[in-house]
Amino acid sequence: MRTLADGAFHSGEALAEAAGRSRAAVWHAIRDLEAGGLVVYKVRGRGYRLQQPLDVLDAAQLARCLGPAASRFTLLLPGEVDSTNTALLSQAAAGAPAGTVIAAEAQTAGRGRMGRAWASALGTSLTFSLLWRFEQGAGWLGGLSLAAGLAVVRVLRARGVPDAGLKWPNDVVWRGCKLAGILIELQGEAMGPSAAVIGVGLNVRLSTAVRDGIDQAVSDVERASGAPVERNALLAAVLVELAAVLDTFARAGLTPLREEWMACDAYAGREVQVRRADGRVEAGIARGIAEDGALLLANATGIARYHSGEVSLRPVPAREGAA
Ligand code: BTN
Repeated sequence: MRTLADGAFHSGEALAEAAGRSRAAVWHAIRDLEAGGLVVYKVRGRGYRLQQPLDVLDAAQLARCLGPAASRFTLLLPGEVDSTNTALLSQAAAGAPAGTVIAAEAQTAGRGRMGRAWASALGTSLTFSLLWRFEQGAGWLGGLSLAAGLAVVRVLRARGVPDAGLKWPNDVVWRGCKLAGILIELQGEAMGPSAAVIGVGLNVRLSTAVRDGIDQAVSDVERASGAPVERNALLAAVLVELAAVLDTFARAGLTPLREEWMACDAYAGREVQVRRADGRVEAGIARGIAEDGALLLANATGIARYHSGEVSLRPVPAREGAA
């Protein structure tokens, strides 16, 4: 994939040589690229080329984009892993330092919230996890996922998607479609210290085939911004913003970020439903978040609070004829 990324023709022989593999292995790798959603042209006598050039994740480019912040991160860029969260959780348990990042071109078992799978396309999404360590215990980190979502929205708003917003607890949305999801997994002692693996899946450029294979409304950053996106630059910007937000959170929790989160709340004041894991549904008007990150919902009896592990949120579709 790295060799083909330039969009030029490469013979099977040259690809085999570049990868230090056999021609048969190259053939299998090409099939894997196609299965991952890339279009590969094969022309007798010329070899293979991608339908369009790809910007593969690259340590040197990332370091350049990170600038002085590069020293805060340890970057690991495997081509493929089962899940960057799963891989980083094992590294965290083995003592990896805060700031370790695993960013993969492909995940074979990407995981989403509430036991769902996370689908992403080869070379056209960002799927990465960041390890952060806290002196506080895991119980204190309840609002962390909201803070992480805010970091992603800040970056998108600064990069041509001014109407990027948040859907509690941490989906990043644009015009009702999901652009990014965040899965946070914690390790550590109840009283601290603790470690958080912050997994981010960000759609950069989804093909129609991938979009059609996802059972919810999704979009991507290129469509939302109307401009090409360089993945290394975007990943670096998100890492820098995550570090800034995590520093704030480690110092003072969600409180200093709450107002900004509410200003980005795509569902503020809207009629929504929360669905519990057991299928029960409750409705109300979204009234933002509490200082611990709980969703506040106004209903007939007052303000109800919901915590993110328990429920998922969905907007109530506008009724026909309603103003
Ligand atoms: C969700 O919206 O359900 C959360 C999706 C989180 C997906 C990311 S992709 C990188 C990291 N590795 C995983 O297996 N999941 C997260």
